[in-house]
Amino acid sequence: MNCAVVVLAAGYGTRMKSDTPKVLHRMLGKPIITHVLNAVAPLAPERVVVVLNPQGADIRKELADRNVTFAVQHRMMGTGDAVKAAVPSLRGFSGTILIVNGDTPVLSAASLKNFLAAHKRYKEGLSLLSFLASPPHEYGRILREDGRMIGIIENRDCDEKQRLINEVNSGVYAVEATLLPLLRQIKMNASKGEFYLTDIVGIAVRKGLKVGAHIIGAPEEYTGINTRADLLAATTILRSSIAEHWMREGVTLLDRGATFIGTDVKIGADTILYPNVHLEGKTVIGKRCVIFPNCRLVDCVLADDVTIKDGTVMEDCAVGAHAAVGPMAHIRPGTHIETKAKIGNFVEIKKSHIGAGAKASHLSYIGDAEIGSDVNIGAGTITCNYDGAHKHKTVVEDGVFIGSDTQLVAPVRIGAGAFIGAGSTITKDVPPLALGLSRQHQTVIEGWATRRQKKEHLGNTTRKGERRR
Ligand code: UD1
Ligand code: CA
Repeated sequence: MNCAVVVLAAGYGTRMKSDTPKVLHRMLGKPIITHVLNAVAPLAPERVVVVLNPQGADIRKELADRNVTFAVQHRMMGTGDAVKAAVPSLRGFSGTILIVNGDTPVLSAASLKNFLAAHKRYKEGLSLLSFLASPPHEYGRILREDGRMIGIIENRDCDEKQRLINEVNSGVYAVEATLLPLLRQIKMNASKGEFYLTDIVGIAVRKGLKVGAHIIGAPEEYTGINTRADLLAATTILRSSIAEHWMREGVTLLDRGATFIGTDVKIGADTILYPNVHLEGKTVIGKRCVIFPNCRLVDCVLADDVTIKDGTVMEDCAVGAHAAVGPMAHIRPGTHIETKAKIGNFVEIKKSHIGAGAKASHLSYIGDAEIGSDVNIGAGTITCNYDGAHKHKTVVEDGVFIGSDTQLVAPVRIGAGAFIGAGSTITKDVPPLALGLSRQHQTVIEGWATRRQKKEHLGNTTRKGERRR
C-alpha cells in the first residue's frame, strides 16, 4: 500500500510537568515515540516524517538510526499547523498520508492496516479512526448527523450535550495527498489560539468530499498520553498485552500485574516467572527456566532449564543450560556462565567466563577472569583485577580447587587441577596439580589461656589491695 506517515511530536507536553520531551518518556524501556514508529513500520511507508519543535535535538538523537525525516514546526500553533510543517517533506508524494499523534504508543500495526484498508475500500478522501471511550475523557468528540460524520469538536469546546458523546477521535487520520491544501483553510480556534487539525473534517464535509470515521480495534490502543497518569495507564495496557501473549506461548506468570516484560524479550515455554521479575532489553529466556522474585535481567540470554534465584541482577550476559544463579547475585556485562555452573549468594561477576559445572557458591568477586570447568571457588574468594590504573586477567584452569578467603592478585594463572589453600594471597602463577599456599604457619601455645586466666585473676585481686603473700 502506497502510504506516507506523518507523526506529530512538536508539542511541549506541558501536562507532563517534565524537562524531558513528552514523546521521550519511556514505556517498558522505550520512548513513547519509538512505540509509535514501531506500530507504523509494518505498513512499509514510503516515507515517515516526524514533526518536532525547534528544541527537538534530543528526539533527533534518539531516532538517529531510524529512517525518518524531521520537519520543524517553529511555533506551537496546534495540530493543524504541525501537519502544515510536514508538507514540504511530503513534496512529490501522491498517495495516502497516515497522520498519527506521537503520543499514542499503544497503536497496533494490525489496526492501522485495517484502517487504511477501510479508507481505500470506501474511496474516501479523508478518514478518521475513532473509538468508543467511556468516559470520553478529553478526547475530541465525533459529531454525526444521520449517522454520517460531520465534524469533530474538542472537549474544551463542547456544550453539555456534546460532552456526553463517547465516540472520540484517536488522532489517527488518512488523507489523500491531493487534499493537503485544505490545511490552509483551517481557522484559528478562538478558545485556544491554535489551528486544530480536527477542523479539517468539517471543512472537507462542507466541500462535499467523502469523509468517514471508522471504529477499528480495541479502545485501549488509542490511549493518548498527556499526563503521568496516562503514561501509567498506557504502560499497564502494553504490559498486560505482552503478558497475555507469553501466557498463550506457554509461560507461567505467578502475578501478571507484577511481571515486567519488555517488548523485545523472548521466553520459552514452561518457564515460570515469579512476581517482581523485570525482563528488559533483548533478553531471551529458554524453556523450563524458573525466575524467582525480585530479579532484573537486561539483555541476557538464558539457555533452557536455568534457575535464577531471588534478588538477582544480571546485565548483558549469557547463561548455559541447567545453570543456577543467585539468590542475590550480581552478574555484570560480558559474563558467560556455562552449563550446570552454580553461582550462589552475594557473588558478583564481571566480564568473566565461568566454565561448565564450576561453582562459586558464596560471597565472591570474580572480575576479568577465565574460570575453567568444574572449578570450585571457595567462599570469599576475590580476584584482585584492578591495580588502581589497569585491569588484569585471572586464569583458573579446569578442575582447580580454591580454598575460602583467597585473593587472586591478577595477572595470575592457576594451572589445571591445582589446589589453593584457604586464606591465601596468590600473587604468582601456580602450576598444574600443585598446591599454592601463602599463609604463615600456625603457632600453637599450649596452656596459654589458662595462664592468662590466672594472670587476670591476679590483676583483679591486686586492684582490690588483697595481695597474697
Ligand atoms: C488531540 C486531538 C483530539 C484527539 C486526541 C487523541 C486536536 C486539536 N485534538 O488532542 O481530537 O482526541 O489528540 O489523542 O488535534 N502537536 C504538535 N504541534 C502542536 C500541537 C500538538 O506537533 O502545535 C503534537 C503533540 O506533540 C502530540 C499531538 O500533536 O503528539 C497531539 O497533541 P495534543 O496536544 O496532545 O492533543 P490532544 O489534546 O491530546
Ligand atoms: Ca495527546
